Amino acid sequence: MTPCSHVVHRGADHDQRSPMKHHGVLSATESTLELMRLRRQTSPKRLASPGPSEVQVRALFEAAAQAPDHGRILPWRFVQVGCEGRSQLGEAFACALLERDPDATQTQLQEARDKARRAPFLALAIVRLEDVHTQIPAVERYVSLGCALQNMLLAAHALGFGAGLVSGQALHSHALRELFAIESAEQAVCFIAVGTVAKAKAARQRPTPGEIVSMLACHACAGSATLGVGPGTSPELPCQLLPTSAERRCQPLLPGEDVRGSSTAPAD
Ligand SMILES: Cc1cc2nc3c(=O)[nH]c(=O)nc-3n(C[C@H](O)[C@H](O)[C@H](O)COP(=O)(O)O)c2cc1C
Repeated sequence: MTPCSHVVHRGADHDQRSPMKHHGVLSATESTLELMRLRRQTSPKRLASPGPSEVQVRALFEAAAQAPDHGRILPWRFVQVGCEGRSQLGEAFACALLERDPDATQTQLQEARDKARRAPFLALAIVRLEDVHTQIPAVERYVSLGCALQNMLLAAHALGFGAGLVSGQALHSHALRELFAIESAEQAVCFIAVGTVAKAKAARQRPTPGEIVSMLACHACAGSATLGVGPGTSPELPCQLLPTSAERRCQPLLPGEDVRGSSTAPAD
């Protein structure tokens, strides 16, 4: 058994044994992967009523709450913009435009206001970048929020809705910071919009694993063989350096061995 074989084979075993698959129904694993594959950006202007019910909105935020959170500091929050908040948001968008462009026309200001009326469900995602009692860096806080957002997007799709993220310069305006009571250590990141897809967008080409993954090079094998994921290669297992230069090549580690070949099995 290789160090990772339980991970590699588990899905395959599961698929073969899955009684659901034999009846043409997707297993939980398959439907989760399919959900991720089918998720796509739908901009707020393409999202119509009906939106999620109160129970479904709760499910969206519960999905957000499952996100990883280093130090359990809860470095983000959401502000939902309900029906009553839309006109205030519209005014904030118009003020934000005036902050950027004092010569904005009435038509442009109205267009800015109209953006606040799009999508039945709308919430602003806000990250907190600093705390007095913890040093968790900003990048980890953004990642945590990204995970929360992705959970919400997937949950929205699982519930049969379309969803999308939308940002823009207004997020950095005084008007919007004031409306959402954004503190100095906080940053508005984007809105998440959910609703019924009125007009679907064509699926985009997704990157393949080969475009986004490389394997850490094996320095001992430099010049002869490197471990890599590229055209025509497949990911290899961790390797060890064999004793003679003639035999210098990558070898799979046996379970319980470290890179020098000695046992790493815990003594009990
Ligand atoms: C933080 C963040 C902000 C975004 N803001 C916008 C936006 O303002 N307008 C927009 O059209 N898409 C926005 N997007 C969505 C991307 O455009 C979208 O994810 C990308 O086109 C890939 O499409 P896909 O999500 O269907 O894979 C944002 C995405 C993220 C992560």
